[in-house]
Amino acid sequence: MKVLVIGGGAREHALCRSLSLDPDVTALHCAPGNAGIAEVAELHPVDQLDGAAVAALAGELGVDLVVVGPEAPLVAGVADAVRAAGIPVFGPSQEAARLEGSKAFAKDVMAGAGVPTARSYVCTTPEEIEEALDAFGAPYVVKDDGLAAGKGVVVTEDAEKARAHALACVGAGSAGPGGRVVIEEYLDGPEVSLFAITDGTTVLPLKPAQDFKRALDGDEGPNTGGMGAYSPLPWADPKLVDEVMATVLQPTVDELRRRGTPFSGLLYAGLAITSRGVRVIEFNARFGDPETQVVLARLKTPLAGVLLNSANGTLDDQAPLSWSDDAAVTVVIASHNYPDTPRTGDPIEGLAEVAEQDAPHAYVLHAGTKRDGAALVSAGGRVLSVTATGSDLAQARERAYAAVGRIRLDGSQHRTDIAQKAAEA
Ligand code: AMP
Ligand code: GLY
Repeated sequence: MKVLVIGGGAREHALCRSLSLDPDVTALHCAPGNAGIAEVAELHPVDQLDGAAVAALAGELGVDLVVVGPEAPLVAGVADAVRAAGIPVFGPSQEAARLEGSKAFAKDVMAGAGVPTARSYVCTTPEEIEEALDAFGAPYVVKDDGLAAGKGVVVTEDAEKARAHALACVGAGSAGPGGRVVIEEYLDGPEVSLFAITDGTTVLPLKPAQDFKRALDGDEGPNTGGMGAYSPLPWADPKLVDEVMATVLQPTVDELRRRGTPFSGLLYAGLAITSRGVRVIEFNARFGDPETQVVLARLKTPLAGVLLNSANGTLDDQAPLSWSDDAAVTVVIASHNYPDTPRTGDPIEGLAEVAEQDAPHAYVLHAGTKRDGAALVSAGGRVLSVTATGSDLAQARERAYAAVGRIRLDGSQHRTDIAQKAAEA
């Protein structure tokens, strides 16, 4: 099978790594990719948001499957363009990707499907914003309706900050078109990311993971795209996946099909395990980053066939997935000043030492990297995802941090407490 992966972050490196280990995959391509992906796939400098260009590339390469990694191309309709060219694609249509692209649409689908989530108001005016903030009280949860790379959400005790973010989201005071903002009830309790592969009808859950969204140790600092992740979750109820399948994943897939916008690809449920039960915080329409790094580290079933079954609508033929009992931990190394104004162009050193001393249990997945002559340099906010497996979380954690310790990147930051609580529990 020839496969083309779209995207260029650590999630796509994890996807490409798994696909490169799949004996059915005879050729692996990625557009645009990054310096790490270049070691396992052939790179193509194509604009990932340009559906016509991606479809043309897939046609020229004669691939059997296109896998779309990030949300931006999905929301831009890249999967539709590839599908229209008659090439199987893993990833939802533009319409179905609104589940991630519009928080208001997601709330509407959840209401239709009876899926438990935070009570919320969609606001477009300063008056509606005041009413909603008053109705819920602190802590305030204010979400930009559109895509914001995980950074459009403000959770704060400070009414002034909440109001300012809400007003900015609706564009109050600016000349541009007014946007929408979702203001919702605060959900307490730990968060879980649960992914499911679906073809629009059949739903196949993967293993749950936990992400660390805040920049600093102890869940302090600003929200980020994600600073680390681990799986499994020793503290979670063993029935969690079955419960989320029955109350969230299957009803959502059924509702989208009923509405005439079937969702095929990866359905990501971001969940809060609250004192009153499981609630959906958000849906995403693609694999999570960095959770994918730990989930795929544990998946034993070769990946390409599963993704192709989703693309072809044949997931009911898929044999049950097989999983390693190992635990996996990933630690993100981010650049100086991430997430505000990340600095790029800094040299990255120490990867050869990791390959020599820590492989195969620990390995480095690239996020924002590129080659500058012979040197490897940072090219984004999240730079590397250092991933390790072990017989339990403590061992996986030890191995991941040993590898992190060998990597040199001027001004870089990483959290030191990824999976710590879960490993000690
Ligand atoms: P989202 O982009 O919707 O995932 O939100 C980003 C992060 O904000 C989540 O991972 C949570 O940590 C936090 N968050 C979002 N919605 C809520 C909520 N209703 N209650 C508490 N925290 C929330
Ligand atoms: N790790 C959070 C996300 O992928 O949205």
